[in-house]
Amino acid sequence: MTRETFRVTLQPEGRSVFVLRGTTLVEAAGQAGVILNQPCGGDGACGKCRVEVLQDPPPPTAADREHLSPRELEDGWRLACRLAVASDLVVSIPQETRFFEQMILAEGEGCRYPFQPNLRKKLVTVGEPTVEDQRSDLDRLKAAIGEDGLEAGLSLIRALPGILRGGRPHVTAVLEGKEIQWVEAGDTTDRIWGVAFDIGTTSVVGALMDLGDGRTAAVASRTNPQVHFGDDVVSRISYIENTRDGLEKLRRRLLTCLNEIIIELCESAGAEPESIYEATAVGNTTMSHIFLGVDPSPIAHAPYVAVLRESVDVKAREVGLEINRNANLHVLPNIAGFVGSDTVAVILASGIARDDAVQLAIDIGTNGEVVMGNRLRLVACSCAAGPAFEGARIRYGMRATEGAISKVVINEGVEVGVIGGGRPTGICGSGLVDAVAELLDAGAIDETGRIAAPAQAPALSDELKAAIVEFEDQLAVVLVDGAQSKTGRPILLTQRDVREVQLAKAAMRAGIEVVAEEFGVAPTEVARVLLAGGFGNFIRRSHAKRIGLLPPIRSERIDFIGNAAATGAKTVLACGDCRAEAERISRETEYVELASRPGFQARFAEAITFPPPG
Ligand code: FES
Repeated sequence: MTRETFRVTLQPEGRSVFVLRGTTLVEAAGQAGVILNQPCGGDGACGKCRVEVLQDPPPPTAADREHLSPRELEDGWRLACRLAVASDLVVSIPQETRFFEQMILAEGEGCRYPFQPNLRKKLVTVGEPTVEDQRSDLDRLKAAIGEDGLEAGLSLIRALPGILRGGRPHVTAVLEGKEIQWVEAGDTTDRIWGVAFDIGTTSVVGALMDLGDGRTAAVASRTNPQVHFGDDVVSRISYIENTRDGLEKLRRRLLTCLNEIIIELCESAGAEPESIYEATAVGNTTMSHIFLGVDPSPIAHAPYVAVLRESVDVKAREVGLEINRNANLHVLPNIAGFVGSDTVAVILASGIARDDAVQLAIDIGTNGEVVMGNRLRLVACSCAAGPAFEGARIRYGMRATEGAISKVVINEGVEVGVIGGGRPTGICGSGLVDAVAELLDAGAIDETGRIAAPAQAPALSDELKAAIVEFEDQLAVVLVDGAQSKTGRPILLTQRDVREVQLAKAAMRAGIEVVAEEFGVAPTEVARVLLAGGFGNFIRRSHAKRIGLLPPIRSERIDFIGNAAATGAKTVLACGDCRAEAERISRETEYVELASRPGFQARFAEAITFPPPG
């Protein structure tokens, strides 16, 4: 049964999501990819999650009255963590309520990093050469810019005569430190773009950033087309090892995807690829190697050492990115063979390497990463969670896009919430966690993960019993019947799906326990748990704990930080000095190799069962 859903539209993006009745506005915003600041963890105690409901605001709660003035209440201001959606809403999210945009990329007090991009533009007037003025084109350009020690590369010098003799005296120089990176005819100072990529095993995300003001102008994502060659990094490496030109084939696929993302970003922001002057990229170590055309094979064999840990700076065109011909590409440094620059980016963006308090950051993806630490010490590991939480290896799994079941509620029967609000076509990671947690609570799945046969589960409601069916020689729960789905086929959660969820959550949980043991602080004792990853935006904290993915940490200490790897990639675009900090994080983070860790297998086996209720 598809339960009543409401459209929530976020301004100024104009982005809409459909959510079930009772979903908090914080959750709804998270589903739309907008992460809100929740200093008190959503308790209604700090008053910091203020939003403005633009039409028909719901009645204020007690927490609203405590933290907002009568005038603000009248104007529609509400606390997002206390607002349970019960009608269609149009809501304006102010800058100060946004988690990362405010914390990292803006100027001012409380920001983690200043907005100081490497690039700047300068409008100058360069005269034509004359009989009297015999200076070279480059000398005249340098003199017009008027700074000491300027340098220029050969490709710029080759392009200079055409640009300087175009009949327009004004040109715009793109400067990176002392390097004249590019020159354009006319005044283009209002266009200075950068692009940041997060290259995941399953998904690739690109963000176009205006380097004039730090604004993210567009975001686009795609499934990593390499998934056809294996759904985890080990199978990709195996493809490379066993296929002629395997590395180049995988690299080409990825590049096509990245260049498509660039076109989509430019179309949506009204930009030109030629006006993108810098790119940054993060990814797990294997993805970074493939992107750069470096053979990642050593990573798959003991002692699992990467070819490259350090960051890389090259011309973007050298690796095939179709942006300005002289643009730079900065690929962030890795930590180890299985902990890549995406983890460096998460550490950077979350700020845990700057705080005194010990925090735990968990990036849930095909390769899940766990980091515990503070400004004095950081310990990290990689968990082979597999792609279940991204919807792969699940019978009706899909990514968290329109048509995915993202929420499951079980009362008498099964009710679902669907991204986009229409008929569902499959189920994404957060829907899976919900489904398993709710079925556990209902008694339809036991602690070992077995789906109960209706005849042996008298306590189940008749509706739930009827939803449990035989399917491909196993039991399955019908989440949505064929008449309600978009495809006309029922959407089921099969016994094998539950096993995949168990393996994935056990890998993550065992990794959390091992890292905590190494660091010497119990996971329940950390100041904050930061959940990163696209999946992390949607998940219900109580359900992540119910299935044992997370330890029993108080929910108010668990924060969603969105796609922090992508935010880290944007952070180094917006703040050139952050690259030194990324290097330090890469060098100093202690890596725990789980496979060789005594006791890891026992912890993993222990974590496969579901915790008892309560
Ligand atoms: S009042 Fe603190 S997060 Fe809402």
